[in-house]
Amino acid sequence: MEKTLVLIKPDAMVKELAGHIITDLYKTGLRMIGLKLVNIQRELAEQHYSEHREKPFFEELIKHITGELHNQENVIAIVYEGEDAVKKVRELAGKTHPEEASTKTIRGKYGRMHSKTNCFENVIHASDSPESAEREIKLWFEDKEIID
Ligand code: CDP
Ligand code: MG
Repeated sequence: MEKTLVLIKPDAMVKELAGHIITDLYKTGLRMIGLKLVNIQRELAEQHYSEHREKPFFEELIKHITGELHNQENVIAIVYEGEDAVKKVRELAGKTHPEEASTKTIRGKYGRMHSKTNCFENVIHASDSPESAEREIKLWFEDKEIID
């Protein structure tokens, strides 16, 4: 069974969208096997987004995901499991740029550009491959926190 990691990012948390997003994610038909609220520190953020370390948006991205842009909000981390879990969640998440994302997607519905930076307030993270999902789930969850 494939697993995938979803993070409900601080922009969604300040807008009190967590419930709506989880309701939307039920449409995938996937099974939720782990969920927690995390006060994410810089070290975990940098490990999570290590592939983007050299990108011009990296510093803003870290400020976003650690809650610095949104008054230190936390994130909700969720693991889903099921057939084609990665693809199903990526499709429902929508395009990375919130203004290019279809309004039928989570990012299209709830995302926007941050008002003072070029940061994409794109509401959720979703793993982009089964390999990324495995790496990310290990970073965010201990084995005992996943229900089998
Ligand atoms: O999240 P996704 O996999 O769709 O996109 P990514 O290319 O892996 O980028 C990771 C995150 O960096 C995005 O979700 C955005 O939050 C942020 N980003 C940004 O703020 N500005 C960009 N030009 C590109 C990405
Ligand atoms: Mg990505």
